[in-house]
Amino acid sequence: MNNVSEELQDKSLFHTDLFIDGKWQSTEKRFSVSNPANRTQIAEVAFANETEIDDAIRAAHRAFVAWKKVDVAQRAKVLSRWCGLLHENKEDLGRLMNMEQGKPYREAVGEIKYAASYLEYYSEEAKRIKGDLLSSPFANAHTLVLKQPVGVVGIITPWNFPAAMFIRKVAPALAAGCTCVVKPDERTPLTAYAIMELGRRAGLPPGVVNMITGDPPEIGKRLATHPKVAKISFTGSTQVGKLLMRWASGTVKRISLELGGNAPFIVFSDADLEEAVKGLMLSKFRNSGQTCICVNRVFVHASVIKPFAVLLEKAIHALKVGDSITDYDLGPLIDESAVHKVDRLVRGACEAGAHLCCGGKRLKTDQLFYAPTVLKGVTPDMDIFKEEIFGPVVTLIPFEAEEEVLEMANNTPYGLASYFYTRDAGRIWRISKELEYGMVGVNTGSISTAWAPFGGIKQSGFGREGSAYGMEEYLQIKYVNWHE
Ligand code: SIN
Repeated sequence: MNNVSEELQDKSLFHTDLFIDGKWQSTEKRFSVSNPANRTQIAEVAFANETEIDDAIRAAHRAFVAWKKVDVAQRAKVLSRWCGLLHENKEDLGRLMNMEQGKPYREAVGEIKYAASYLEYYSEEAKRIKGDLLSSPFANAHTLVLKQPVGVVGIITPWNFPAAMFIRKVAPALAAGCTCVVKPDERTPLTAYAIMELGRRAGLPPGVVNMITGDPPEIGKRLATHPKVAKISFTGSTQVGKLLMRWASGTVKRISLELGGNAPFIVFSDADLEEAVKGLMLSKFRNSGQTCICVNRVFVHASVIKPFAVLLEKAIHALKVGDSITDYDLGPLIDESAVHKVDRLVRGACEAGAHLCCGGKRLKTDQLFYAPTVLKGVTPDMDIFKEEIFGPVVTLIPFEAEEEVLEMANNTPYGLASYFYTRDAGRIWRISKELEYGMVGVNTGSISTAWAPFGGIKQSGFGREGSAYGMEEYLQIKYVNWHE
């Protein structure tokens, strides 16, 4: 047991058991969670069996009967209190996240605030659920359109944002009147369990949010096939998303999927190059390159690629890599398979003719830190162009014409985030319309906010999170034909 976990235990924020029907529940079987920065074990966490998975679903189903009827002002109050508790405990939660996920502490605290912003947003949006009253073709009749909560939601969240992805789904679900069974990723369950405890303190009634960990395929399949679960919301790989879609089809469940990406970042010849490098660094190296909206392919107009590369090199040399709580920019990758994947893509690109400008290796043998890397001469036939890198690697690709770069940028089955830099207003409009992506950042590397609809198209999934659009995912329409 290390200092962080001991201190958090004293504050009752270090939880390793299942949370079902408002109670912490231990299990015989446990699995181990370790710190990716030094690979030491930090906890033994509960592993739910079939009965416990079903208990969580049943608890959520029972709680739904009452929660959907709780007045909206009361639901909003619970979200608002939970938001306050996240802010009050952000340093502790940040240290916990830093320890289990490896994200720099500063970024981890930023993620807690980002998560809290969804609670704040949906505590307000809860008050704005509106139906409709339409004209009726019949005399003395009314067509009412009601928006009602969909029911129990099975929520499966990833390791790269253990706080924000959990809250981004749960906040609109609760605001709409749904109840939830949440499965955080088994590599990073501690932050989610600590936030769950804060939800309990905020006044969530028993069963409204339940949290379980265990065997991911077993829990995923049970949630997606269980007749009492009305909807699945998942953030993770496209491969698992497809599996969940297949399983969910048996009971025709609603489903929202936020899956992999392959984000292009285009720098036109008239761009402010210093700003473009700042935007690239922000997007590319956030969470050490492990976000679904991270830049994957950097297209730079041939006339400015040299000065752009010089500025980029300078920014990369200034990055600090670290393994402690102190200030640093880049942490470890999540596990050994993540390092292998990044290394395979970099080596494959070099063997196929790309030029390694810097990095291209692990920082220390036997550790999960990968050096910030820049590759020039990447081409569309290379795996590094086609696959999501999920690591601190920049691929530089020159282009000459607008049509050419659009063709390359859209040449992927994914469609989550995209970015471009230009000062030409006509081009901003043209390119924004032509990019086949759910999100476009223009002259910015930052697009994430609770105020906007986050989500993708093509094989990056469907459904939106954030803004009023995010609330619609948890509401269903009922039409009432009322004759007087
Ligand atoms: C993600 O990687 O899926 C989430 C990133 C974000 O919300 O900014």
